[in-house]
Amino acid sequence: MTIRRKTMALAGATLVAGISLAALAEYETLVELGYPAPREGELVHVPPTMQDLDEADIHPELKQVIRRGHDLFTNTQQLRGENVFNDMNCSSCHLGEGRLPFSGPVWPAAVTLPDFRGKNQHVNSLEERLAGCFAYSMNGAPPAYGSDDMLALSAYHQWLAKGVPMYPDQPIYGRGFPRLDEPEQAPDYARGEQVYLEQCAICHSKDGSGHYQDGKYVFPSPWGDGSNNWGAGISRTFTMASFIKYNMPLGQPMSLTDQEAWDVAYYINSQERPQDPRYTGDVRETRERFEATFHKHTLYGTERQHDGTLLGDHANMGEKKEMLPWNLGVPRFEDLKD
Ligand code: HEC
Ligand code: HEC
Repeated sequence: MTIRRKTMALAGATLVAGISLAALAEYETLVELGYPAPREGELVHVPPTMQDLDEADIHPELKQVIRRGHDLFTNTQQLRGENVFNDMNCSSCHLGEGRLPFSGPVWPAAVTLPDFRGKNQHVNSLEERLAGCFAYSMNGAPPAYGSDDMLALSAYHQWLAKGVPMYPDQPIYGRGFPRLDEPEQAPDYARGEQVYLEQCAICHSKDGSGHYQDGKYVFPSPWGDGSNNWGAGISRTFTMASFIKYNMPLGQPMSLTDQEAWDVAYYINSQERPQDPRYTGDVRETRERFEATFHKHTLYGTERQHDGTLLGDHANMGEKKEMLPWNLGVPRFEDLKD
């Protein structure tokens, strides 16, 4: 009975060869929790676990490097002061060690890059994609391309993509933070604040500074100096709304209505955070420059609904001492342009 229902949820999806039944069950549980089921023709991949790595028939040294990548991904704070200048780990936003659908699973990058990226308007490698999350989401600076840390992180991403064809033609099930339908009512600051205080502040604290315990961050900061900067993908309201709907409150994903998710996303993204590293010295000018490729989706450089404050109008970079390079490798292939 249950088995038949379970199998039906994934009917029509293209499964990656060699997928185990146990792994499949992992996704069936998500569908039962209320996550969308795969659509006809979508590519479904359940990434291998660290236990699968232990058992894999690959060189022991490669295993060590992949483990190192996993360790950097889940405890990125070990790079604090050098590559990371906020309270985040990669896994603060990419839940389930970067494996979970609807939680920005990271393996799709390993099979779709190099590719053109709208945000920086050129073809990006996997390393450059990782560098992007360092520069914006971690308010930091990437480890050097080709360094041990970059190699370890790349290896972890590629390991998670094990078995998926390169440049797949099908859309990928649960990639990114799939966009919610537009809200019925325009997102509202006061309603968002209420959701935040009732359902989020207990872990993330009323002032958005997260929660420290024994000198370690247990709950990351959704805004303020410990958070991602204004250039990070999650500062787009639609991305924040989807992240929240599919992942928060922790342990109760899918429990907010879409409207609540939009409202609380709007509230969080109406708070201050470190400056966008692309800052020109003038917030309105910076917004305009990156409006089409990014800021049309953020509240950066606009007046806050609640009190008219001009958001992002400051030179605060959080813990960083200087604007660190955000765009290594740009521009590229100028000679190919006509
Ligand atoms: C503050 C939240 C946040 C943190 C922290 C974060 N990321 Fe991301 N990451 C995102 C968002 C948002 C996206 C874009 C997802 C989308 O397009 O819907 C993304 C996308 C990615 C992708 C591309 C996935 C794809 O589908 O192509 C990779 C790879 C990635 N991140 C790696 C990392 C790594 C490595 C770190 C740590 C160094 C990290 N991220 C830290 C929010 C974050
Ligand atoms: C039970 C504690 C808990 C509750 C309640 C909770 N969160 Fe989280 N939240 C977390 C943890 C822990 C993470 C990091 C994920 C991880 O490390 O597994 C996180 C990550 C986040 C992030 C991404 C990282 C950052 O700090 O920006 C956002 C945004 C966020 N939560 C928003 C919310 C919102 C909005 C609510 C309320 C609707 C909420 N959370 C409720 C524990 C909680």
